[in-house]
Amino acid sequence: MIFRWFYISTSRLAEDESDELVADIVRDSIPRNRKLQVTGALLFTGRHFAQYLEGPATSVDTLQRIILDDLRHEDIRTIAEGAYPCRRFVTWSLAYVPPARSGERRIERLLTDAARAREDCVEALAQFMSESAMMGHA
Ligand SMILES: Cc1cc2nc3c(=O)[nH]c(=O)nc-3n(C[C@H](O)[C@H](O)[C@H](O)COP(=O)(O)O)c2cc1C
Repeated sequence: MIFRWFYISTSRLAEDESDELVADIVRDSIPRNRKLQVTGALLFTGRHFAQYLEGPATSVDTLQRIILDDLRHEDIRTIAEGAYPCRRFVTWSLAYVPPARSGERRIERLLTDAARAREDCVEALAQFMSESAMMGHA
């Protein structure tokens, strides 16, 4: 059984160097995630992060504890968590989804409109991330 943790957070990175710093995060994460048999994706919009991580429960838990303590972001809100039937980012240790206005819009909607159609919005964001990551790969 695969476990997942999907969250959104607010970046604390200085705007003028954030692209570079996010590239560092992704580069450092790939070998660690691979070792933990974790796959997933990181969306950075310039203001917010959305990260989808999936793998063995113990691995996801390990990463969750580290990421929650990371001072490079704040206001970390879990939007989906727990057992899930399958992996979504099978071939990606950590796919990077670059800034896109539609990504920020989807996150804003989840931040402001928590109750209404929440599950739909969460799945739509995950789907958007996997489609955008695929495009980045091609
Ligand atoms: C938004 C965000 C996403 C992150 N994602 C991952 C990740 O998927 N895998 C990972 O190993 N570290 C990730 N990190 C980094 C960890 O929080 C942490 O800095 C790192 O694992 C600690 O490594 P160190 O102990 O070698 O410094 C992320 C950090 C941030 C801010």
